[in-house]
Amino acid sequence: MSADSPSRPTAGAPRVVPASSPREGKPPFLVFGRPVLGEEEAAAVQRVLDSRWLGTGPRVAEFERAFKAYRRAPHAMAVGSCTAALLLSIVAAGIGPGDEVITTAMTFCATVNAVVNAGGTPVVVDVDPVTQNIDPEAIRRAITPRTKAILCVHFAGRPCAMDALEKLAAEHGLLLIEDCAHAIETEWRGRAAGTIGAFGCFSFYATKNITTGEGGMVLARRKDDAARIQRLALHGMSADAWKRFSDEGYKHYYVVDRGFKCNMMDLQAAIGLVQLQRIEEHYVRRQRIWRSYMERLADLPLTLPAPEEADTRHALHLFTVLIDERASGKKRDDVLTSMTKDGIGLGVHYLALPEHPFYRDRYGWRPEQVPVATEIGRRTLSLPMQADLTDDDVDRVVASLHRALA
Ligand SMILES: Cc1ncc(COP(=O)(O)O)c(C=O)c1O
Repeated sequence: MSADSPSRPTAGAPRVVPASSPREGKPPFLVFGRPVLGEEEAAAVQRVLDSRWLGTGPRVAEFERAFKAYRRAPHAMAVGSCTAALLLSIVAAGIGPGDEVITTAMTFCATVNAVVNAGGTPVVVDVDPVTQNIDPEAIRRAITPRTKAILCVHFAGRPCAMDALEKLAAEHGLLLIEDCAHAIETEWRGRAAGTIGAFGCFSFYATKNITTGEGGMVLARRKDDAARIQRLALHGMSADAWKRFSDEGYKHYYVVDRGFKCNMMDLQAAIGLVQLQRIEEHYVRRQRIWRSYMERLADLPLTLPAPEEADTRHALHLFTVLIDERASGKKRDDVLTSMTKDGIGLGVHYLALPEHPFYRDRYGWRPEQVPVATEIGRRTLSLPMQADLTDDDVDRVVASLHRALA
C-alpha cells in the first residue's frame, strides 16, 4: 500500500472499526445499527453505475411506487434524508416565522431543527413514562393561538396515541405531521404510520430498519401537498425537471417555488428497492431478538420496553432499557463503558432536547420542564437490534449486560 493510498486513514481522520473486525484475541466489535446488506444491493448499485444515470431518475420513481404500495399511501416523494423530509413538510405546511410547532422532548435533534430551519418556533413537551411517546395532555397544555402543528415521533417504532392526537388537531385546527424515522413498519389500529397526519417523514439512514445509506421519504395525503414537496426538493423547479437531460429531448424548466436541494439519487433508491423486499423477513428476525432480550433480561434491575399496545404494530427499531442506578449501584454510563469494552456497540436515544446548550440558550428550555423525558434520557441505553445478529451475538449482548450490572 502506498503512503497516500485511499484505504489508509489519513492523520487525524477518525478510526472506523469495520463491522466484523476481529479484535486481537477477542470476538469482533458489534457495531450498533450496522446495516444488513448483501450481494443484491451491490448488484443493484452496479446496474445504476453501468446506466450512467446516477441522480434522480427511474430507480427513484420505482422506489417511490414501491414504498407507497408498502405503506398504502396516496403519495410518496423520495428525498435525501428524513431531516429534509421534515423540513420540506413544514415549509409545505406554510409554517414560518411566528408559528409554533409542538413536539416531543424525547427525539433526535433533527425533529426540532426542521422547525427551527423553516423559521418556526419549536415547543417541546414531555412524554408518557410508559410509552416514552409524546403525552397528549402535555400537548393540550402547550397549545397557544400561535400553534400551527403537532409534530409527533413514533419513538423506537411504537406508535403514538394517534386517536388523542387526531382529536387535539381537529379541535384546535392544527396540522399533524408524523416523524416516522423509527417507524417504517409501524401500524396504528390498521392504519400505517405516516398516512395518518398530513405528512409522514421516513428515514433510510444507515442504522434504520431499511437503509439507502442516507435517504428519506415523505408521504402526503393530498395531491397538492405532494406536488409542492416535489418542487421544493428540487430547487423549486417545475415538475419533471429531473428529466431535462433525458433522450426525450431537452426540457426547459422554470423556477416556480422556493427551492432546496433534497432529492434522492438512483444510486440510493436502487439499494432501497432491494431493502424493501426484505423488510418483513427482517422484521420476523428482529421479533425473535426482541423476545429473547425480553425473556433473558427480565431478572435484571432495569426497566424493559412496555408491551405492544393492542391493535398496533411496533416497528421494533430500538430496544431501549432504563438502568436503575438505585437498585444496581451502576450508572448508565458505567454500563455503556463496560459493555463497549466487551465489544458491544450501544446507542443512547436520547438525551432530552433541553439538555443541549443550543436550545437552552436560544429558547430558554430547561430539563426540569420535561422531567420524564429528562430522566429517561439520563437512564436509557439501546441494545443492538439489527436483523443479522446471530444467536451468538444475542448471547454476547445478554451476558455483557448481566456482567455490567453484576
Ligand atoms: C426521530 C428521528 N427523526 C429524524 C431523524 C433524521 O433522519 P435522517 O438521518 O434520515 O435525516 C432521525 C435520525 O436518526 C431520527 O431518529
